[in-house]
Amino acid sequence: MSEERYLTFALGKGRLANKTLELFEQIGITCEEMKDKSSRKLIFVNEEKKLKFFLSKGPDVPTYVEYGAADIGVVGKDTIMEENRRVYEVLDLGFGKCRMCVCGPASAEELLRHHERIRVATKYPLIARDYFYNKKHQTVDIIKLNGSVELGPIVGLSDVIVDIVETGSTLKENGLGVLEEICPLSARMIVNQVSMQMETERIRTLITQLKELCQEGSK
Ligand code: PRP
Repeated sequence: MSEERYLTFALGKGRLANKTLELFEQIGITCEEMKDKSSRKLIFVNEEKKLKFFLSKGPDVPTYVEYGAADIGVVGKDTIMEENRRVYEVLDLGFGKCRMCVCGPASAEELLRHHERIRVATKYPLIARDYFYNKKHQTVDIIKLNGSVELGPIVGLSDVIVDIVETGSTLKENGLGVLEEICPLSARMIVNQVSMQMETERIRTLITQLKELCQEGSK
């Protein structure tokens, strides 16, 4: 058998990466090096299985995968949609479930219903634009924010927001609610388009194993 090359994984830092590694452990893929929280290393290797892992900011994961710096990535569907990179989305990992929604005060319902030219604050301008312009055919002004987006309608920056809703408690505590649902979200696996051709067997095996595990988990 020819010497295998390394398969490289880019994982979105934080909860997503931890959940992914838990899942990988269940199919026998471990990376002991990564468990050492005091380590400042950026790349972790599993020599036996010829795998490499690195952590990056979520929005950078599709970038690494598109350019082939990583063969495989795990990241939220929100990030995949917003970054809009040329990658294959191959699997819904079933965790990190939440929703992308249009949210705001109850008073904004009327503005949405009448397709008024409203202001929309969001960390996701591409998703917001696609939703309002292509799906609703509503002209809006989109204002990019970098976090705590719920502030938008509260301080009078915007009429509504487009944001992730998980439990809904952030909205509730700030007197806001879900006005429209854009799409469901969860963690997804993405694959570089060339890697998918070159390493078909290894990648397909991995997808099949993870799929079986996810199906078992949802039973
Ligand atoms: C996300 C999102 C909401 C919140 C939703 O923010 O932007 O603010 O979580 O969760 P909930 O429905 O369970 O309350 P995050 O914590 O990622 O921080 P951010 O506001 O800086 O984006």
